[in-house]
Order: sequence, then structure tokens, then C-alpha cells
Amino acid sequence: MAKLTVDGVEYEVTEGRTILQALDDLGVLMNGVDVPHYCWHPKLSIDGSCRLCQVDVEGFPKLQIACNTPVKDGMVVHTANDKVKNAREGVMELLLVNHPLDCPICDQAGECKLQDYAFEYGLKHARTEEPRRALKKGVDLGPTIKFDQERCILCRRCVRFCREIPQTGEIGVFNRGDHSVIETFPGSELDNPYSMNVADICPVGALTTKDFRFKIRVWFLEEAAGICTGCSNGCNVFLGVANNKVYRYVPRRNDAVNATWICDAGRMTYREIGAEDRLKRPMIRSAGGVLDAVPYATAIEEAVARLRKLVQTKGPSVIAGVASGFASNEDLFTFKRFLAALGTDVCGVAIPTGEADRLLVKAEKAPNGEGARLLGFGDARAVAQRIRGGGVEGLVVLGHDLLGPAYLASEADLTKLETVIALDTHRSEIERVAHVVLPVRVAAEKDATYTNHAGRVQRSWPVVEPNFETWADGEVLSRIGAGLGLAGFDGKFDVREVSRGLGAASSAFRGIDLDSVGGQGLPAATKAGG
Ligand code: SF4
Ligand code: SF4
Ligand code: FES
Repeated sequence: MAKLTVDGVEYEVTEGRTILQALDDLGVLMNGVDVPHYCWHPKLSIDGSCRLCQVDVEGFPKLQIACNTPVKDGMVVHTANDKVKNAREGVMELLLVNHPLDCPICDQAGECKLQDYAFEYGLKHARTEEPRRALKKGVDLGPTIKFDQERCILCRRCVRFCREIPQTGEIGVFNRGDHSVIETFPGSELDNPYSMNVADICPVGALTTKDFRFKIRVWFLEEAAGICTGCSNGCNVFLGVANNKVYRYVPRRNDAVNATWICDAGRMTYREIGAEDRLKRPMIRSAGGVLDAVPYATAIEEAVARLRKLVQTKGPSVIAGVASGFASNEDLFTFKRFLAALGTDVCGVAIPTGEADRLLVKAEKAPNGEGARLLGFGDARAVAQRIRGGGVEGLVVLGHDLLGPAYLASEADLTKLETVIALDTHRSEIERVAHVVLPVRVAAEKDATYTNHAGRVQRSWPVVEPNFETWADGEVLSRIGAGLGLAGFDGKFDVREVSRGLGAASSAFRGIDLDSVGGQGLPAATKAGG
């Protein structure tokens, strides 16, 4: 360890880390100790090209770049004296010499580091009279990204990202000196499963995503913390929210989960929150066989009546429960209690699967398969087998992944069941066979926790309110449980209380509740099967 003094405050840091890395490790970089920087990024190699991070290190005759100066024991650094401020102003003046006056029409305005630092360190008037460099605008770099060459400050973050993270290396710096420009290599385009991260790390408005650009000014957005539910990695994101609508996901740093990246496919899952195919109305199947929209309370009553009849005529063991990998820990804990109180132990979890990669993407395409396993839900294949074998007459199913290829493959196997009660977020084929359909909330609409593939329990918060009546799965199950008179169910669902109950009842979740999880998550006490 080495002693490092920055602006009069002494820190203990790892010797050999650069000044910026050490400040980042301490969590004070741009969070108490402001060292503006463009080319440095905590998860990319060091470039040292923008020169904005210069600081005054005692004992050195000239200013040093903080991103590439290793800390030595006893080092004393000044980040805000006049020498440093002058240097920053000089760098900013040079960076702005050719930068177009695009802010009013640039989609990065409001979250642009050039704009921010120009405001802090830039001259109010240009001292040059020559025309600014005219370069390409609106360049299609590939399926996801648009490029404005004039706005680029040549920090090379995008180049290093493509080389080092997806390792696809589609872009590079072409030409020399003040003729240098970013281009894709001849015959290639920026097209990799993580391509949109370049827009996040580009400090200016040179790289923007086709999906988000010009949809809304960023100052109208509230950046709300949450997680991506696209796979079991549970990448941390900020949801950009305005007008009760989610406009985008951008990565939220969590070094234990996703560093500073998210995959493109996961980034696009924000669209599912307000999708047209959200299930918006509770429905019950009429005597004529069609599904009719009914008030929520009526649908709950129908579910209660159907389950009561089955229990009374055939016993609870003919009822099966299939959980969803999209349901939260609190919902799944309630479901488990519900099934136990009903008197059946026939249950499992259905999880959609797909391709995984070596970076973030996991094969389980749901956020909480691990949570379900920790709560004792086995593989729903066994339940599917039992359904096919005729051992099930009633089914309470969360989501519709039971219809996936690994399980039932089609809804036909469910047609012979006396009762199918489906709680779901989106419309699906399960409606063709369900007798009661109950709309439920997605992660961004409720207080909840999810357990990722590595057993990390992570939080999501309600950031939008649906404009139709819908409840968390746990709340719906609590109402059905109360209607049936099940022990421990009074129709109320206080998610905090449920979360504390989960921590008390399950060794895996011991000591973890909704409020202790925080923004970076906590490891579950045990892994499923471990
Ligand atoms: S496009 Fe953006 S990230 Fe790439 S070099 Fe230019 S300013 Fe940097
Ligand atoms: S890796 Fe998984 S959790 Fe992360 S952004 Fe992609 S889909 Fe979402
Ligand atoms: S951040 Fe240090 S030179 Fe660019």
C-alpha cells in the first residue's frame, strides 16, 4: 500500500495503480476529487491522448497526466490549483477549435462531457477565425449506431472498446495529425452484440444509438436504477424514465456483475415494459368457451372457486404450480407458501434458454431462475411430464414459459386440464387454454429482488406505474389464498414484510431483505444445490 495525498487529504492506495485508478478505487473520482478526463475509462486500457487529466505532482517539474502516472508512496498531488486549471483551459480550447457549434441539435446535449467541461474550463469566445473542420455527419456505422465525425474528439475509447471488450475491432483511427478521423475498416461495419456501449462511453455526441437518438431530450429523463431482466446475469442499468414511460436502458456500473457494460439484446428489453402486447385485462373463460374481460376481483373470485372445487372433489395433489424465472424472490416465496398451504408439492420453474457468450450473456433468459431454485422450485420438466401423463388436473402458472420447447412445446397438452389459472405480464398462447388470466407487473413496476446466476440478490424499484389494473404475482396469489381461506393468507401483500419473511425462512436469503440489498446487490448465503 502507498500513502497518496490529494488536495491535502491523505489516502491509502495500492502502489502501482495510476492516480486516476487509485481515485476510482477509492470511489472519490468525480465524487469529491474532480479530475476531468476523456480518453481514460476504468474498464479500458490507458490511452493518455486527451491530456485533460493533467495534475500537479510535487517533485515533478511539469504537470503529469493522472491516468498514466503510477502512485508512489508519499506522493502529493494537486488537482485544482491555478497551474492545473490553466492546463485544462488550454486543452479545452484546443479541443473546441474544430468542434461544431451543434449543441442545440446534438442529442448528447445535457449529458455531454465536452459541454460540461467547456462550461467549467472553456473560453467564452473562440480566438480562432478560421472555419471549423467540415467532416462527415450522420454516418451509418452499422445496424445500431450513427456517427458524427465532426463532433469526435479522438479519445479512441470506441476503438479500444471494440478491440478489448467484444474483441471485434471494427473501428480505428485513420490518417494522421489534424487529418485523423474515426472510421470503420473497409468492408466492415460496427456490428457486434455489445455495439451500443460505444454510445455510452463516447464522451461527446459523435456516437449515438439509432434506437434512442432524438426520442427525448435527456434533461427530461429521470435516470432510475434497476436491473436488466434479459438473462440471468442481471446487469445493472439506469432506466431513462419520463412521462411514465421507459425510453432506454444504459449500463449502471457494478464491478461484481457487469462492470460498465450491457449487451445490445438486453438493452432493447426496455421495450417490453410498455409493449403493446402487455396483458392488460383480467379474463375468465365463459360457458361458451371464450375469454371475457372482467373486473380484477371477479377474476380472483373465479380462480378461488375453481381451485376450491378441485380441492374438494379431487384433493390438492392434482394441482400443480409452475413458477416463472421472471417472478421476483418475493413473488416466488409467496407462491411456494401458497402451494404448501394449498396442500400440493407438485411444482417447478420454467425458464427460457438461449445462447450464452464469454462476456455477460447467460443461457437462462430470465433474471431469477437461481432465486426459484434457492426457494426449492425444481425443473418444470418434471411437472410437464406429469401433465402429459394425466396426473395434473389443475394448474397455477406464472408466465408462459411452460410452453417453451424444453417443457410442453404447445398449449395442446393443457386443453384436458379442468382448471388453468395463468398470471402473466404479456399476452401468449396460454390464453387459448387458460380459464382465468390475471395480468401482473414487470420488474420496473414493483419493489422486488432477483437472484442472478451467481447467487447475487439484486434490487429493482417501481419506476413506472401501469395505466391498467395489475398487481405483483405475490399480491394476486395472496388474494387468491385469502379467498380460499389458506393459513397465513389474509389478502394483504406487504412486500417488505414478505422480504423479511423470506430472509427468516430461507437459509439462502438469511439476513437479506428488500432494504439491505442496496444498489449493488448482496450475495445470497448459499447457491442452489451448494
Ligand atoms: S467517436 Fe467518440 S468515443 Fe470514438 S474517438 Fe470519437 S469522441 Fe472518442
Ligand atoms: S447480459 Fe443479460 S442481463 Fe446483461 S444486458 Fe444482456 S440480457 Fe441483460
Ligand atoms: S484521461 Fe488522461 S490523457 Fe486522457
